[in-house]
Amino acid sequence: MKIVVIQGPNLNMLGVREQQVYGSMKLEQIHAQMKDFASQSGLEIEFFQSNLEGEIVDKIQECYGDADGIIINPAAYTHTSIAIRDAISAVSLPTIEVHISNIHRREEFRKQNMVAAVCTSSVVGFGPFGYHLAMVGMIQIMNEIKAVQEMQK
Ligand code: DQA
Repeated sequence: MKIVVIQGPNLNMLGVREQQVYGSMKLEQIHAQMKDFASQSGLEIEFFQSNLEGEIVDKIQECYGDADGIIINPAAYTHTSIAIRDAISAVSLPTIEVHISNIHRREEFRKQNMVAAVCTSSVVGFGPFGYHLAMVGMIQIMNEIKAVQEMQK
């Protein structure tokens, strides 16, 4: 089973940007922890970060036929991008949205969320630990899909 982790704009600056909001972990450290957990759980995992909307759309499209699930933090594009929303909807894969901060208790403009309605679920406000929670959630979703497929045999 393969999970693709997609990180949006400015997440390459984690550990430097607004530590009081996003914490002190660097993206590489978060990914290293996710990689360890994936190998313990027998999952294949791939990481992608881009500051460009179109590259994120391309990556989501590449997941079709290649990945079993997507964990995505679209970062600022969460609040603006119909293109990313449509890409998630188009590939129709189990998709978990992660936000390090609690976007619901921040500025008004962060309350608009273009992607939540097309994601399977959301993990919000747990800091970098949210990525681990998303992986646990993804394993649960995969197991449920498998159980349903077994029942249909
Ligand atoms: C974020 C929240 C977004 O509002 C912001 O633009 C980000 C990061 C988060 O993980 O908390 O860049 O997605």
